[in-house]
Amino acid sequence: MSDWTYPERITFHDAIATMEVDFSGLTFADEAAVDAFYDHVGTRLTETGRRWFFLVIYTDCVVAPEVWRRFAERGKDTNIAHSLGSVRVDATAQTREAIRESAGKESFRSNIYNTRDQALLALGEMRKRQRETHSTAEETFLRVENVSLRFGGVKAITGVSFEIKRGEISSIIGPNGAGKSSMLNVINGVYHPQEGTITFLGNVRRQMRPHDAALQGIARTFQNIALFKGMSVLDNIMTGRNLKMKANILQQAVWLGPAQREELEHRLKVEEIIDFLEIQHIRKTPVGRLPYGLQKRVDLARALAMEPQLLLLDEPMAGMNVEEKQDMCRFILDLNDQFGTTVLLIEHDMGVVMDLSDFVVVLDHGEKIAEGTADEVRADPVVISAYLGASH
Ligand SMILES: Nc1ncnc2c1ncn2[C@@H]1O[C@H](COP(=O)(O)OP(=O)(O)OP(=O)(O)O)[C@@H](O)[C@H]1O
Ligand SMILES: [Mg+2]
Repeated sequence: MSDWTYPERITFHDAIATMEVDFSGLTFADEAAVDAFYDHVGTRLTETGRRWFFLVIYTDCVVAPEVWRRFAERGKDTNIAHSLGSVRVDATAQTREAIRESAGKESFRSNIYNTRDQALLALGEMRKRQRETHSTAEETFLRVENVSLRFGGVKAITGVSFEIKRGEISSIIGPNGAGKSSMLNVINGVYHPQEGTITFLGNVRRQMRPHDAALQGIARTFQNIALFKGMSVLDNIMTGRNLKMKANILQQAVWLGPAQREELEHRLKVEEIIDFLEIQHIRKTPVGRLPYGLQKRVDLARALAMEPQLLLLDEPMAGMNVEEKQDMCRFILDLNDQFGTTVLLIEHDMGVVMDLSDFVVVLDHGEKIAEGTADEVRADPVVISAYLGASH
């Protein structure tokens, strides 16, 4: 039992991120042999500076019963330190038993296969599963990191960090002047923070122009409606669509055909949004003539026409009566459901915040004082006192 140090016992298959270890024909008679082997493997693995999947061949490998425990322990430690997952091939009954026993105890899967091909197949599945879970777990949708924004001497935002998950509805709350609108303006590139970064869909940035934000799929509505009052509802919604059209060209998306067809697609999309927000009856009406609640809805339609991945809403329900608020709540929940749009909104009405939000960030005097579920932040004494200290 001395051939275990031979380099050919360990093979690194880079393309499948796999280290193959060949135990075949080896006998581990005492703990020294086990240690010597695992020390060697550990050294080789450490040299690579990364983790690997393990493909372990046990054909005709004999582990003496008195060293099973040692063998299992060292194997487990190696796994913890270096492994992304293991598959094992052709263990003898005894080795199988030892692996199964420690696997059962340590609650990891023993993953023993009869042939190397079967094990490789299983390894492929394992790698695929990990890629999937990793890509969803690791891709940050929106990350705000240590953002500070000053206007001359005024500190609008100080060192604020938080994360927004894809598909969720999140709210920013806080007293007047807390920095909520400024935060949205940083996220969509209107304001440039002196410090900190915004990471959206994996792109890290310090500065961005609003146009770039739109191209990246961020749309917003404003605290003070920014519609063209003299233009019809339809034309206002088309302004949102125009940006999208430009976005298509600039992103060099596949140009599907004649301009007419493009035009038709845009119209269909706009009609879908008009239907969705139930504003068919006012499509020709100049926006300036509409009641405030409906203007807010048109503003939302304009933002939706951009087909954003992230929709920023600055007090979408401000100045609305109860019924209008309920409608707006329903639209926000439905668009999140139907279009999968991630929403970040600013809202003062705690009832609305509670109904809508998966996640809430609380700002006060430009600083983050709390975050969590709506229930969590509502019960937070720091949040309560910030609100009691506020003027409204
Ligand atoms: N363009 C600007 N120039 C100078 N100061 C600004 C500017 N925008 C915001 N501020 C200041 O930054 C601070 C935060 O303002 P912001 O509008 O972000 O607060 P807010 O939480 O949205 O408040 P509200 O609930 O009243 O809408 C305030 O002190 C405000 O006066
Ligand atoms: Mg504001």
